Amino acid sequence: MRFTTALLALIPLAFAQTNSTAGPSLQRSYISAAQAQTILASATANATASKVPQNIAIVDPSGILVAFLRMDNAFVGSIDLSQKKARSAVLFSGLFSSADLYSQVQPGAPLYGLEQSNGGLVVFGGGIPIFVGGQLIGGVGVSGGSVDQDVQVARAGVLGLGASYVAPS
Ligand SMILES: *[C@@H]1O[C@H](CO)[C@@H](O)[C@H](O)[C@H]1NC(C)=O
Ligand SMILES: *[C@@H]1O[C@H](CO)[C@@H](O)[C@H](O)[C@H]1NC(C)=O
Repeated sequence: MRFTTALLALIPLAFAQTNSTAGPSLQRSYISAAQAQTILASATANATASKVPQNIAIVDPSGILVAFLRMDNAFVGSIDLSQKKARSAVLFSGLFSSADLYSQVQPGAPLYGLEQSNGGLVVFGGGIPIFVGGQLIGGVGVSGGSVDQDVQVARAGVLGLGASYVAPS
Protein backbone atom coordinates (compact mmCIF):
# COMPACT_ATOMS: atom_id res chain seq x y z
CA MET A 1 0.00 0.00 0.00
CA ARG A 2 2.65 2.48 1.05
CA PHE A 3 4.82 1.24 -1.82
CA THR A 4 2.02 1.93 -4.35
CA THR A 5 1.51 5.41 -3.00
CA ALA A 6 5.21 6.12 -3.36
CA LEU A 7 5.14 4.91 -6.96
CA LEU A 8 2.11 7.04 -7.78
CA ALA A 9 3.87 10.07 -6.36
CA LEU A 10 6.67 9.54 -8.89
CA ILE A 11 4.39 9.64 -11.92
CA PRO A 12 4.08 13.43 -12.29
CA LEU A 13 7.87 13.69 -11.95
CA ALA A 14 8.38 11.13 -14.71
CA PHE A 15 6.07 13.01 -17.05
CA ALA A 16 7.60 16.36 -16.21
CA GLN A 17 11.02 15.07 -17.20
CA THR A 18 9.93 13.09 -20.23
CA ASN A 19 10.92 15.55 -22.92
CA SER A 20 12.87 18.18 -21.07
CA THR A 21 15.89 17.64 -23.33
CA ALA A 22 14.06 16.73 -26.52
CA GLY A 23 14.93 18.59 -29.71
CA PRO A 24 12.76 18.36 -32.80
CA SER A 25 14.49 15.30 -34.23
CA LEU A 26 14.09 13.42 -30.96
CA GLN A 27 10.29 13.55 -31.12
CA ARG A 28 8.79 10.27 -32.24
CA SER A 29 5.51 8.90 -33.35
CA TYR A 30 4.83 5.40 -34.58
CA ILE A 31 4.42 4.44 -38.20
CA SER A 32 1.08 2.79 -38.93
CA ALA A 33 0.68 -0.46 -40.83
CA ALA A 34 -1.06 1.52 -43.60
CA GLN A 35 1.88 3.91 -43.92
CA ALA A 36 4.25 0.94 -44.01
CA GLN A 37 2.21 -0.64 -46.83
CA THR A 38 2.43 2.57 -48.85
CA ILE A 39 6.21 2.61 -48.46
CA LEU A 40 6.44 -1.08 -49.39
CA ALA A 41 4.40 -0.51 -52.54
CA SER A 42 6.50 2.45 -53.72
CA ALA A 43 9.77 0.72 -52.91
CA THR A 44 8.66 -2.47 -54.67
CA ALA A 45 7.61 -0.54 -57.78
CA ASN A 46 11.03 1.11 -57.91
CA ALA A 47 12.84 -2.22 -57.51
CA THR A 48 10.65 -3.82 -60.17
CA ALA A 49 11.33 -0.96 -62.60
CA SER A 50 15.06 -1.42 -62.18
CA LYS A 51 14.69 -5.24 -62.38
CA VAL A 52 16.41 -5.91 -59.05
CA PRO A 53 14.56 -8.19 -56.61
CA GLN A 54 14.86 -6.73 -53.13
CA ASN A 55 14.14 -7.43 -49.49
CA ILE A 56 12.35 -4.45 -47.96
CA ALA A 57 11.93 -4.07 -44.21
CA ILE A 58 10.10 -1.34 -42.32
CA VAL A 59 10.53 -0.80 -38.59
CA ASP A 60 9.08 1.53 -35.97
CA PRO A 61 11.29 4.11 -34.17
CA SER A 62 12.41 1.43 -31.69
CA GLY A 63 13.58 -0.83 -34.48
CA ILE A 64 10.72 -3.32 -34.19
CA LEU A 65 9.49 -4.79 -37.48
CA VAL A 66 6.21 -3.40 -38.89
CA ALA A 67 6.26 -4.73 -42.47
CA PHE A 68 8.51 -6.84 -44.66
CA LEU A 69 8.54 -8.12 -48.23
CA ARG A 70 10.92 -10.52 -49.91
CA MET A 71 10.35 -10.02 -53.60
CA ASP A 72 10.54 -13.09 -55.85
CA ASN A 73 14.14 -14.23 -56.32
CA ALA A 74 15.60 -11.77 -53.80
CA PHE A 75 18.68 -13.05 -51.98
CA VAL A 76 17.66 -14.86 -48.79
CA GLY A 77 20.90 -13.72 -47.17
CA SER A 78 19.64 -10.17 -47.52
CA ILE A 79 16.49 -10.68 -45.43
CA ASP A 80 18.52 -10.18 -42.27
CA LEU A 81 20.57 -7.36 -43.81
CA SER A 82 17.46 -5.37 -44.75
CA GLN A 83 16.02 -5.61 -41.25
CA LYS A 84 19.31 -4.67 -39.60
CA LYS A 85 19.78 -1.72 -41.95
CA ALA A 86 16.34 -0.43 -40.97
CA ARG A 87 17.17 -0.82 -37.26
CA SER A 88 20.52 0.90 -37.73
CA ALA A 89 18.74 3.91 -39.22
CA VAL A 90 16.40 4.43 -36.25
CA LEU A 91 18.38 3.44 -33.16
CA PHE A 92 20.33 6.72 -33.20
CA SER A 93 17.22 8.91 -33.48
CA GLY A 94 17.31 8.89 -37.28
CA LEU A 95 20.26 11.27 -37.28
CA PHE A 96 22.38 8.83 -39.32
CA SER A 97 21.47 6.63 -42.24
CA SER A 98 23.16 3.23 -42.32
CA ALA A 99 25.47 4.70 -44.98
CA ASP A 100 26.39 7.64 -42.71
CA LEU A 101 27.64 5.15 -40.12
CA TYR A 102 29.96 3.37 -42.55
CA SER A 103 32.98 5.68 -42.29
CA GLN A 104 32.55 5.91 -38.50
CA VAL A 105 33.01 2.17 -37.90
CA GLN A 106 36.21 1.62 -39.87
CA PRO A 107 39.36 0.61 -37.92
CA GLY A 108 40.65 3.67 -36.12
CA ALA A 109 37.38 5.58 -36.49
CA PRO A 110 35.45 6.71 -33.39
CA LEU A 111 32.62 4.15 -33.64
CA TYR A 112 34.77 1.13 -34.55
CA GLY A 113 32.83 -2.02 -33.60
CA LEU A 114 29.44 -0.27 -33.40
CA GLU A 115 27.92 -2.87 -35.73
CA GLN A 116 28.52 -5.51 -33.03
CA SER A 117 26.13 -3.69 -30.71
CA ASN A 118 22.35 -4.00 -30.38
CA GLY A 119 22.31 -7.60 -31.55
CA GLY A 120 24.06 -6.66 -34.80
CA LEU A 121 23.69 -3.61 -37.01
CA VAL A 122 24.40 -3.15 -40.72
CA VAL A 123 26.32 0.01 -41.46
CA PHE A 124 26.45 0.34 -45.21
CA GLY A 125 23.91 2.02 -47.49
CA GLY A 126 20.25 1.00 -47.74
CA GLY A 127 18.86 1.89 -44.31
CA ILE A 128 17.22 5.29 -43.91
CA PRO A 129 14.97 6.95 -41.35
CA ILE A 130 11.40 8.07 -42.10
CA PHE A 131 10.32 11.53 -40.92
CA VAL A 132 6.80 12.91 -41.10
CA GLY A 133 6.13 16.41 -39.83
CA GLY A 134 9.66 16.53 -38.44
CA GLN A 135 9.08 13.44 -36.29
CA LEU A 136 10.85 10.11 -36.62
CA ILE A 137 8.15 7.53 -37.36
CA GLY A 138 10.32 4.58 -38.38
CA GLY A 139 12.96 3.34 -40.78
CA VAL A 140 13.22 1.39 -44.00
CA GLY A 141 16.00 -1.03 -44.91
CA VAL A 142 16.56 -2.49 -48.37
CA SER A 143 18.97 -5.22 -49.37
CA GLY A 144 19.40 -7.32 -52.48
CA GLY A 145 21.05 -5.08 -55.06
CA SER A 146 24.16 -2.94 -55.10
CA VAL A 147 24.38 -0.46 -52.26
CA ASP A 148 23.37 2.34 -54.66
CA GLN A 149 20.32 0.38 -55.84
CA ASP A 150 19.34 -0.42 -52.26
CA VAL A 151 19.50 3.28 -51.32
CA GLN A 152 17.42 4.27 -54.36
CA VAL A 153 14.69 1.76 -53.53
CA ALA A 154 14.60 2.82 -49.87
CA ARG A 155 14.34 6.49 -50.84
CA ALA A 156 11.61 5.73 -53.40
CA GLY A 157 9.63 4.09 -50.61
CA VAL A 158 9.91 7.06 -48.27
CA LEU A 159 9.14 9.56 -51.05
CA GLY A 160 6.10 7.48 -52.00
CA LEU A 161 4.63 8.27 -48.59
CA GLY A 162 5.38 11.96 -49.06
CA ALA A 163 7.79 11.60 -46.15
CA SER A 164 11.41 12.68 -45.69
CA TYR A 165 14.57 10.72 -44.92
CA VAL A 166 16.48 13.80 -43.79
CA ALA A 167 16.49 14.62 -40.07
CA PRO A 168 15.10 18.08 -39.34
CA SER A 169 17.82 20.52 -38.31
C1 LIG B 1 7.57 18.82 -24.38
O1 LIG B 1 7.68 19.13 -25.77
C2 LIG B 1 6.61 19.90 -26.26
C3 LIG B 1 6.77 20.01 -27.76
O2 LIG B 1 8.09 20.34 -28.11
C4 LIG B 1 6.58 21.26 -25.55
O3 LIG B 1 5.50 22.02 -26.02
C5 LIG B 1 6.42 21.02 -24.05
O4 LIG B 1 6.49 22.26 -23.39
C6 LIG B 1 7.53 20.10 -23.56
N1 LIG B 1 7.30 19.77 -22.17
C7 LIG B 1 8.25 19.82 -21.27
C8 LIG B 1 7.86 19.43 -19.89
O5 LIG B 1 9.41 20.17 -21.53
C1 LIG C 1 13.91 4.81 -58.03
O1 LIG C 1 13.86 5.80 -57.04
C2 LIG C 1 14.86 6.81 -57.17
C3 LIG C 1 14.71 7.73 -55.97
O2 LIG C 1 15.29 7.11 -54.86
C4 LIG C 1 14.68 7.53 -58.48
O3 LIG C 1 15.71 8.50 -58.63
C5 LIG C 1 14.75 6.55 -59.61
O4 LIG C 1 14.49 7.20 -60.82
C6 LIG C 1 13.75 5.43 -59.41
N1 LIG C 1 13.98 4.42 -60.41
C7 LIG C 1 13.00 3.91 -61.14
C8 LIG C 1 13.43 2.91 -62.16
O5 LIG C 1 11.83 4.24 -60.98
